[in-house]
Amino acid sequence: MTNIGSYEERLKNFSWSIAEKELGYSDAKTKNIGWYCSDRICDMGKAEKTALIWEGHDGTEKRYSFNDLRLASNTIGKFLKNLGLKNEDRVCLFMDKIPELYFSFLGVLKIGAIVQPLFSAFGDESLHVRLENAETSVIITQRKHVSKVRRILEKSPYLKHIVIVDYDGKHPLREREIAFNLEETVPVEEFEIFPTKAESPSVLHYTSGTTGQPKGVKHVHYSLISQYLTTKWVLDLIEDSLLGQEEDIYWCTADPGWVTGTSYGIIGPWSMGITQCVLDKGFSAENWYQFIEKYNITVWYSAPTAIRSLMKAGDEIVRKFNLSSLRHLASVGEPLNAEAVIWSEKIYGLPFLDTYWQTETGSIMITNFPGMPIRPGSMGKPFPGIVGTVVDTKTYEPITTPGTIGLIAFKPGWPAMMRSYWNNEETYQSKFKNGWYIPGDRARLDDEGYFWFVGRDDDIINTAGHLVSPFEVESALLEAEQVAESAVVSKPDEINMEVVKAFVTLKPGFEPTPDNELTIMNFIRKKLSPLAMPQEIEFVKTLPKTRSGKIMRRLLHAREWGEDIGDTSTLEDEE
Ligand code: WT7
Repeated sequence: MTNIGSYEERLKNFSWSIAEKELGYSDAKTKNIGWYCSDRICDMGKAEKTALIWEGHDGTEKRYSFNDLRLASNTIGKFLKNLGLKNEDRVCLFMDKIPELYFSFLGVLKIGAIVQPLFSAFGDESLHVRLENAETSVIITQRKHVSKVRRILEKSPYLKHIVIVDYDGKHPLREREIAFNLEETVPVEEFEIFPTKAESPSVLHYTSGTTGQPKGVKHVHYSLISQYLTTKWVLDLIEDSLLGQEEDIYWCTADPGWVTGTSYGIIGPWSMGITQCVLDKGFSAENWYQFIEKYNITVWYSAPTAIRSLMKAGDEIVRKFNLSSLRHLASVGEPLNAEAVIWSEKIYGLPFLDTYWQTETGSIMITNFPGMPIRPGSMGKPFPGIVGTVVDTKTYEPITTPGTIGLIAFKPGWPAMMRSYWNNEETYQSKFKNGWYIPGDRARLDDEGYFWFVGRDDDIINTAGHLVSPFEVESALLEAEQVAESAVVSKPDEINMEVVKAFVTLKPGFEPTPDNELTIMNFIRKKLSPLAMPQEIEFVKTLPKTRSGKIMRRLLHAREWGEDIGDTSTLEDEE
């Protein structure tokens, strides 16, 4: 059994009310995602079904039912409410992929507050700008990350409480710190869930911009509608064991600090009552294959950098494991090379289906719809209900000649679309042109309407699926005492697709030595997240500039990628 219907059929009869009906949305007593992912599943008779199978880095395994999920999120919700939190207050989750992260996500939503998940590898500066921007009042974290919070405490006046979920009593708690241990708290059976409406804010994810600070992408509870239906039709998860079908065991490899880890690592699968696995451990081919084998994972949603790393680990290691439980694979985050699709079909007997979307879109937009013939290297076609095309870069009119490169464009109005950038209306408005939402990526359409990714339309670097703003890295570099000017671009990389490279001119008195490179690297390491760290600093005498003095990243980029830069005189005139 599968959910797969023909793409054409789905298109013809499509309406988002399909999801509303299946979720009983109009009659639901609340539109709260927290309720949908736990209480409702229990009400449907699946209270004892496993919701989460978690494995820690030391091999510890924990299992939680949907009823456990319901109780744990109630308990956290009540605790937060007792701290004085109100609906729409921001609560940051700053944890590794531990069970409390998942429970807190639902708990924060249940009190109507806004959840702000942040990747726990972020350094204190990255954390600080995001907390300040959102005026976040509570952060939920672990002992191992609390020192980062302490370092920014003085300049974070909005932050009222720092909740530590694994406090061991060994060191005294400091200012604003409070311990909360779920296992030692009486589970809250009855909890009044905040009556959020469809348009009430839910999740605030931060994403890098080309210039300026990262932007807070605001989502609402109605996003559930797209997340539920795309999970069902694209990830092809199957709700129950009707017709003798084995239950699906799903694994989304993304961290909930990023949108894939919430839309498809929490909301989508749990709103369907699906069992999911979480591995809180670093990547290695062996770890991953072992995990799939041990838990009989059936559906696996991952990312191109991981897939390329698995390819590199080779075919031999795959044969050491029994991966026969796998039945469906999908990928997101960066371009998925045709070779990776072909390789996965050869080695796992299943192709990775590429899906395309963004933090801003909240749910899958373009996809290799299951059952649709795959054109390896292509992202597929718009999900039913999504009107998508490629438009001209100047007129923003749809391009009618197949093969012509333009900008990806979507008609606004799907349920999971962001509702704003936090306190940044101007940038939000700038994303709409001629009635289209423009995600900022270039692509071409082929004669059958398949989308082929070409590249980003801005200078943002996508390294291993993580967006890095060159501006942020350049700003950090400029703070180093040795640095006069800097320009940051990407350079090609076999596994990560692209990595960060910095060009730097030095202030008088400083020499382009390996020692200075190391000193600068160590200086910026404290300021940037590990993902944004340059792999290389190249010292140059001058940087190419436009006549108005703006550094021409595009020239440096072209050089790194071995591209023809053509006539540079026009570039020099660019603003
Ligand atoms: C950007 C969004 C939503 C998932 C995590 C990333 C790039 C995403 C693909 C793909 C080529 C892709 C785009 C997009 N991207 N999927 N299948 N092929 N590029 O979310 O951090 O908001 O990044 O990632 O450039 O705009 P994000």
